[in-house]
Amino acid sequence: MSKPSAYSLSAHNSLKQLAEKNASTGLIKKFDSDSDRVNRYTFDLGAFSLDLSKTHIDSTLVQAYTQIAKDIDFGSNRSQFLNGFPINATENRPVLHTLLRQDEAAFGEKLDPKVAKQAVDSRAAFKAQIIQINNRISRSDHPITDLIHIGIGGSSLGTQLVYEALKPLNSSLRVHFVSNIDAHQLLEVLAICKAQSTLVFGISKTFTTAETLKNVTSVLQWMQGLGAANPMSRLYAVTANPEAAHQFGVNVDHVVSFPTWVGGRYSVWSSVSITAALMMGEQRFDEFLQGAASIDKHFAETNPENNIPFLSACLDHYYCNYSGAKSRAIFAYDHRLRSLVPYLQQLETESNGKDRQRNGEPVDQLTSPVVWGGVGTDVQHSVFQMLHQGTSLIPSEFILIVKPDHKLTDHHSTLLANGIAQTAALLVGQDADDIRAVEPETEGNDLVLKAKTFSGNRPSTTFLLEQLSPFSLGALLAFYEHRTYCFGQLVNINSFDQMGVELGKRLANDVASSLEVDGDQSAFDPSTQSIIARIKGN
Ligand code: F6P
Repeated sequence: MSKPSAYSLSAHNSLKQLAEKNASTGLIKKFDSDSDRVNRYTFDLGAFSLDLSKTHIDSTLVQAYTQIAKDIDFGSNRSQFLNGFPINATENRPVLHTLLRQDEAAFGEKLDPKVAKQAVDSRAAFKAQIIQINNRISRSDHPITDLIHIGIGGSSLGTQLVYEALKPLNSSLRVHFVSNIDAHQLLEVLAICKAQSTLVFGISKTFTTAETLKNVTSVLQWMQGLGAANPMSRLYAVTANPEAAHQFGVNVDHVVSFPTWVGGRYSVWSSVSITAALMMGEQRFDEFLQGAASIDKHFAETNPENNIPFLSACLDHYYCNYSGAKSRAIFAYDHRLRSLVPYLQQLETESNGKDRQRNGEPVDQLTSPVVWGGVGTDVQHSVFQMLHQGTSLIPSEFILIVKPDHKLTDHHSTLLANGIAQTAALLVGQDADDIRAVEPETEGNDLVLKAKTFSGNRPSTTFLLEQLSPFSLGALLAFYEHRTYCFGQLVNINSFDQMGVELGKRLANDVASSLEVDGDQSAFDPSTQSIIARIKGN
């Protein structure tokens, strides 16, 4: 790749040379040349540790990116971010979700006192609402057993992840997530809920999102149809646009607002997580916030060369821009984290999938690699063939939980063994001698020996969480947030707007009109016209 305009030539050249050297030298060799490699590149962040030693990190890479951090003014940009400067320039807003999880004492000195007050007030209002709803849930005359959480994207993905990750097996409260305009999803939920024992939560930062408003309306109609008295009294709204919720008809004291400086995909720390918080209880939700705050502290106070979200973003950038990786895979070896990948997909690709620099000029580097993945061990029996023997470079991440929340320890040790084994296999691979040693019958069968050869040399990162707790989950998510921010800095984009989703939304309205019986589709391209005509012809 050619030199990004903001980078010094020396840093760019050393990364290019490093990539050439790495392409011809096995990753395992890095362990031979540095006996302390594992210690040097395993980082303890309190809530979890991160082993980067099976990636291509080394002193040359760290030095080059430390230089780049200076070239791009990383330190002052970070300070502007954390102190509430309007760094989301296209929307003229600060980006301050971090305030929702920090003690007031940790707020930046330069923070506008009005903003600080908004943060404190919104947390207090959220807590007060939780107490009220909890009282309602536990009233013995009409006990509540089901909550329907209606929201989409950032108004759903984080809360669903937290709910699934931290829900005890014996929880008496069920939360159902409805995001899609596809009524198959909604109807599946309504089939198992009873109007009298259900509360509904309409979650939308803007309170204008078509899918969410339609689903809320349909649930209210369902309640009405079942003869529930005053369905509106069962509806709560969480939004940064309380006026729109009032206009929709939500009772004023059922509207929980949060500040506009909390981005949708960064809103898991806010009242957007109300349903998960009701399931967890206030104390555990606070622990979730504290876990995130522990990473904020590390991110805010640590120099680039030791800053783990920054270094992880540097590796993402290196693989994508200097080694040709088009994607990155994330594998959580824990069923409870099955919604982690969709959550991270929104976080990373909606933040960094952009082609404009912060000044509006075209980017001069590759931005967001595709984020994908799944849950181990299932993925081993589906996509791992490609991971081990495919022709694309796919840096991968393994998230392992040391202690499960169950007593079936034989299950758990097998689960961990599988995750660890994959990282070892990706690193070292196997050659013909290795195969002959374990499968002597392959001797002389060249075809099979070749097919069973694994090149190895494939980078992976291992996260170890002692337990999946509110604290460790909060820390993990905050780590990914800051890493995403750092990547955005390296490619010089605004990670906090999402203009790329708007065109499709507008055209969906136009298509909806053309789908009507007398609708006109002539404004569309020939392929789109033909699809509309064929649907209407049915
Ligand atoms: O369309 C994209 C998006 O704006 C996301 O950024 C956001 O998380 C989601 O839609 C939902 O938006 P809202 O919370 O305003 O309903």
